[in-house]
Amino acid sequence: MTVCNDNSNAAITAAPHIRSFVRREGRLTRGQQRALDEEWARFGIDPAVTALDLQHCFGRAAPLVLDIGFGDGEALATMAQAAPEVDFLGVEVHRPGVGHLLLRAAALDLHNLRIWCGDAVELIGQRLPANCLDRVQIFFPDPWPKARHHKRRLLQPAFVATLLRVLRPGGIVHVATDCSDYAGFALAVLQNTAGLRNTVTTGDFAARPVERPLTKFEQRGLRLGHVIHDLLFVRDA
Ligand SMILES: C[S@@+](CC[C@H](N)C(=O)[O-])C[C@H]1O[C@@H](n2cnc3c(N)ncnc32)[C@H](O)[C@@H]1O
Repeated sequence: MTVCNDNSNAAITAAPHIRSFVRREGRLTRGQQRALDEEWARFGIDPAVTALDLQHCFGRAAPLVLDIGFGDGEALATMAQAAPEVDFLGVEVHRPGVGHLLLRAAALDLHNLRIWCGDAVELIGQRLPANCLDRVQIFFPDPWPKARHHKRRLLQPAFVATLLRVLRPGGIVHVATDCSDYAGFALAVLQNTAGLRNTVTTGDFAARPVERPLTKFEQRGLRLGHVIHDLLFVRDA
């Protein structure tokens, strides 16, 4: 397990208390369990670390992408393989997904991928140093469609404020969703965040960037006939 504490990093903000997931452990396959036992030491980050030293984690300084809620991690592994000059940090609460990504990361011998198994709200609000990310990607976040559950949506003003702390000036926030209601909600939240600017000058959704692979939940959405929305915002310099 990668132990990478940077105790000099004191600039930590209080995270909003958003519970954006349901902790359903699910069944680990034998392969996923083996990957958690054998590969975590290579790709996993010690959850006890209070402040991440990213250069130590990755063994180099390189542009860094954070993938929040990577699911089974297939899309993240594809992106990491396609861009060896970039480092990728994936965060996911669901252990079978983490096990799945560990299997792929080992099979592809990915040197530029590290995994945080836990809550992204905690990682961003309490563990990451300021201005460390070049891109944050949130692909197909849980839509929480019922009005009484909207407070569980990840993309809320308080959460986006904590994202701004860890995103470098010029850094990108990339959201994709197949839920039209969430797309409109997220567009309004990002649009109203001081310090973020829509890369689409008409204030609309973005064209799908070529580097975003088809994700598992995107495929599900397409099967159901849903329209996919991409949102691309940049942090002002
Ligand atoms: C609908 S799935 C999308 C998975 C993947 N990005 C895809 O497109 O196939 C949303 C994922 O986000 C994860 N998730 C939700 N809230 C999270 C949080 N606060 N921290 C880490 N993971 C979270 C869930 O466990 C779930 O795997």
